[in-house]
Amino acid sequence: MLDPSADEIRVWGDSVIELMADYLGDLRDRRVYCQMSSREIRDQLDATLPTKGIDFDALLKIFREIIIPFSRQNAHPRMFGYVQSPGTPLAAFADLLASTLNANLTVWRSAPAPVEMERLTIDWIRQILGFNAEAGGLFVSGGSMANLAAIAAARQAKDHSSGRLRMYASSETHFSIAKAAALLGIGRENVRHVPVDDHFRIRVDDLVAKITADLEVGHLPFCVVANAGTVNTGAVDPLAEIREIADRFKLWMHVDGSYGAFAVLAESARKLFAGIERADSVALDPHKWLYLPVDVGCVIYRDPEIARAAFAHEAEYTRIIAEEADEAFAFWDYGPELSRRFRALKVWMLLKGVGVDSLSEAIESNLACARYVESMVRASDDFEMVTPVELSIFCFRHVPVQLRSESPHAIDAFNERLLIALQRDGSSYLSNATLGDRFALRGCVLNYRTTLRDIEILLDDLRRVARSLLTSS
Ligand SMILES: Cc1ncc(COP(=O)(O)O)c(C=O)c1O
Repeated sequence: MLDPSADEIRVWGDSVIELMADYLGDLRDRRVYCQMSSREIRDQLDATLPTKGIDFDALLKIFREIIIPFSRQNAHPRMFGYVQSPGTPLAAFADLLASTLNANLTVWRSAPAPVEMERLTIDWIRQILGFNAEAGGLFVSGGSMANLAAIAAARQAKDHSSGRLRMYASSETHFSIAKAAALLGIGRENVRHVPVDDHFRIRVDDLVAKITADLEVGHLPFCVVANAGTVNTGAVDPLAEIREIADRFKLWMHVDGSYGAFAVLAESARKLFAGIERADSVALDPHKWLYLPVDVGCVIYRDPEIARAAFAHEAEYTRIIAEEADEAFAFWDYGPELSRRFRALKVWMLLKGVGVDSLSEAIESNLACARYVESMVRASDDFEMVTPVELSIFCFRHVPVQLRSESPHAIDAFNERLLIALQRDGSSYLSNATLGDRFALRGCVLNYRTTLRDIEILLDDLRRVARSLLTSS
């Protein structure tokens, strides 16, 4: 098993491909989720430490019979929860090949062609964002790590020998920003949360007031985080205006585009991202809106040399001897990780194999699905939108006729029960958001398989599940 022959590899491969094709072939007929318990799953997995191995078919049988059915089907066209990409077979093959080669992208000499491929792919992403040619970056595990790396670079850019560092982000900002501040020793309490307007965008007047107040008492404002697609509602902060404020107060501008930034590829959304190319750093996740399987996030720095000053660390065992320039390149100088898998392969295969035009179309179609939800909800008399759709996230509520005169609290409580019942039903999957103290059903279209018909099915599912809740109570 440890060192199979070429013929054995072919036989294993045939079975795996068969399983993959079967699984993806009837994905639409599966339930996105089913009710299950931890105990139920554990009871089916043999817990004894294996002293002797079992054959490959037996391993696959466990994957087919236990792992698949007891998983949430993230590739399903009606998986609307959280910010979940579906993955794509092309990238699954890329991951297989990356693990086969087992390249370790620490420095150029460790993996020459894979490092060149990562640099090339990062450069394509730089072009997608419209950054200057000097900008650069690297792939990391996801948006959280990209945000952490960017905030580390932002801190490096500021002389912080005196005063307390302060950074600014809207109250809708993803928690990974506060977490990064805590991990970097900046402190959660030094992330100033700026209120948002009716569209959940940062209030720039409040931002300026907070920076000014901090300066007056001797603090050191160093960074403003702008959102290019908040996790709750998909709000995009006014990026060009934030750039001006950052320039005025000499702040680093970081854009968290983990969810939304690839929507710059869609013609109908592009104008929202004007100014992103002037940020000092951007976090964006190919494992979200480029549909790739986890894990691949990305950080782009406008001036990679600042990141280098934050991350470079000389140690005798990593010293690069007798090499120059391109061949002396080390990814560890630009991010927190040393050993790094060949994440670039799946990004490269996707961009090269599918092409940017088809990806733009798929993103455009996701946006159209979210707008379709909004138009159907607004045309109905039993649903209400909680916030207008900006990108592919939609937040709404079900208000059946019987509940119309109930209090907001009762309607929220009903929608909470409805969400759980919908998830257990399994035909469609939503998650939730709390917006202005009210509960909202929340969906995010992030799957090239999702169609307008799926949106109609989602609303029908909600009505059907709601009816059975109302009749049983
Ligand atoms: C806006 C935003 N930022 C950051 C993250 C964190 O990304 P990751 O889960 O890849 O660490 C998310 C995750 O959904 C997000 O939506």
